[in-house]
Amino acid sequence: MRIIEPQADILAGHAGVNLADPDFYATGNAHLAWRSMRTTEPLLWHDHPREGFWVVTRRADVRRVLGEHETFSSQHGTSIAMLGAPDPGAGLMMQATDPPRHQRFREQLGRPLSAHAVSAYEEDIRSIVRRTVAPARDGGVWDAAAAIKRIPMAVAAHLMRLPDADVDPLMRLAYATLAPRDPLYRIGGEEETLARAHYEISHYFSGRLAERRRQPSSDLLSYLMSIEVEGRRLNERELLLNCLSMIVGAVVTTSHAVSATLMALADAHGGEGRWPSHLRMDSFVEEALRWSSPITHFMRRARKDVELHGRTIAAGQAVTSWIASANRDENVFDHPYAFDHCRRPNRHVAFGSGPHRCVGAPLARLMLKLIFEELRADIECFEPVGEPAHVVSNQVAGVNNLPLRVKARQRDSVTQ
Ligand code: HEM
Repeated sequence: MRIIEPQADILAGHAGVNLADPDFYATGNAHLAWRSMRTTEPLLWHDHPREGFWVVTRRADVRRVLGEHETFSSQHGTSIAMLGAPDPGAGLMMQATDPPRHQRFREQLGRPLSAHAVSAYEEDIRSIVRRTVAPARDGGVWDAAAAIKRIPMAVAAHLMRLPDADVDPLMRLAYATLAPRDPLYRIGGEEETLARAHYEISHYFSGRLAERRRQPSSDLLSYLMSIEVEGRRLNERELLLNCLSMIVGAVVTTSHAVSATLMALADAHGGEGRWPSHLRMDSFVEEALRWSSPITHFMRRARKDVELHGRTIAAGQAVTSWIASANRDENVFDHPYAFDHCRRPNRHVAFGSGPHRCVGAPLARLMLKLIFEELRADIECFEPVGEPAHVVSNQVAGVNNLPLRVKARQRDSVTQ
């Protein structure tokens, strides 16, 4: 998605905008539309051929819709792609389950992803990152986005003990589930791509689960097979749905915070990207998350009639919560369209809010810290060459390619 500061004098920028159209994010100006919605129509009705839906764009409303599970349910579709049909994962996949059952899932599934648990993998992840970034050390033109996009799947494969040869095909399938219209991931028509991607990921994990049954191991898959939720082990369907959710959640998100940040650093210096001389990595990572907002929206369904901004959301209606807009809310963030790596506090909602707040956040933060550390150690400055190709998706905000002309630096010459 293009990250452009809207013109200060334009307010009514959302007439005719179709937030469901994946092409809008590759070619349009979503930030202009969202700013206009936040300012003039904070609760907006949006038509859609399958089923109309509500749109909330202010941070307070986004947090309320995502977090208030007594009022807004996750069991009937959590994204625009799922409008008009029941969610096959309802009650079976953690993300499509409401409390209190959701809490039982989360207690178990969240354990290997806690900050403490993932810190044990720091050196393994650093090696994966180093190997990926190594070609940049040669200088010349290096496609940062294409290279870094592979890291989250390589890390997931490491945690699940999957062969390295499976990383690229799995990564492409994970993207196909959220960007089925993107020429890079399309397998056939949009519907066919979605169906095949879901089938192939399930088929793949079905095979890996069978292997683990024959020969249990100490990896994340064997862990998932061993946990009990509400007094019983997960059945095959629950296991497959939760593997799918983990893989997609992990793979299509984290790397986009890096490419968007590299572009912001270049824009801030007239096209030549340089690292800030004094950098606190924790606040740098948080600003990268706010700035990029790799997941644009999640959806809920009203469990009862709700009054909001003087209008009524009727029970059963879908409400989309625009995280990427909430992270530019001018009532919360000073200079929301400036990349400020010292921003504190940084109350972004890139990981969502409430009970479903991203369970992979500690792993994502660790990957981002390591990627930025390694890039900074290897690259002195860089310059984007050519136009980046934006992911064609209404849910994933990022680029597929970001060729950079890189000036490498001697290792160990980084100022803290
Ligand atoms: C920068 C990277 C990431 C971003 C921006 C992100 C964003 C999000 C958001 C906004 C949610 C809330 C969903 C909702 O409210 O319905 C979420 C949930 C989730 N994420 Fe992430 N995510 C990231 C990385 C990861 C990683 C690395 C993993 C896997 C290890 C992961 C797995 C999940 C899962 C399984 C859920 C569902 C949690 C639940 O329902 O309790 N995500 N993510």
